[in-house]
Amino acid sequence: MEPKNKVFIATSLDGYIADKNGGIAWLDDIPEINTIDTGYETFTSQIDAMLMGRTTFETVLSFGIEWPYKKPVFVLSRTLTKVPQNLKGKVFLVNGTLKEVLQTIHNKGLYRLYIDGGKTIQSFLKQDLIDEIIITIIPTLLGGGLSLFGELSEKLQFECVSSKVYLDKIVQNRFVRKKV
Ligand SMILES: NC(=O)c1ccc[n+]([C@@H]2O[C@H](COP(=O)([O-])OP(=O)(O)OC[C@H]3O[C@@H](n4cnc5c(N)ncnc54)[C@H](OP(=O)(O)O)[C@@H]3O)[C@@H](O)[C@H]2O)c1
Repeated sequence: MEPKNKVFIATSLDGYIADKNGGIAWLDDIPEINTIDTGYETFTSQIDAMLMGRTTFETVLSFGIEWPYKKPVFVLSRTLTKVPQNLKGKVFLVNGTLKEVLQTIHNKGLYRLYIDGGKTIQSFLKQDLIDEIIITIIPTLLGGGLSLFGELSEKLQFECVSSKVYLDKIVQNRFVRKKV
């Protein structure tokens, strides 16, 4: 199977994934969005595993909810040494170069990956390792925070293959990497 690395993420209107304090409460500025289907279940049904940065992992843990992911989750970290007992067999720590990490995951037969976390997505983009980005834009200006995108040494072109409006309020764009 051909490896694919995909992003499914929400940003503020000014392109942040977390506010100045690292908070994500603004994701609920239009709470009705949580009551409709915005394609998340379909997206996650088409991936084999998730790869997220340590900060995103710890954010999910801080919610104190039941573990929300059905697929294996690989957590990138150079500092974590173990996962909580209840997540053994569901969460796996990985580190090394991205190529090494991807090889480790592919060797388990997992090829279609959901890449999550700000620094993590940026480091994948720096190495041109993202094939698809689905961005749901919450129309709030945060005025600062953690940007989804960072600097690149060269431009990367994408094609917008779909654009959907939910509740007449929220736009979701799907971009596919255009390789020439
Ligand atoms: N808006 C949304 O939809 C959305 C989605 C996801 C996350 N978020 C939010 O965005 C923020 C993400 O935080 P973040 O930008 O710090 O990013 P992150 O990617 O979640 O985590 C960064 C951490 O991942 C580890 N890491 C990254 N690359 C690595 C590599 N190549 N090798 C080994 N470890 C690596 C490092 O952990 P160590 O320090 O342990 O080495 C690094 O500090 C959080 O506040 C989260 O809640 C928002």
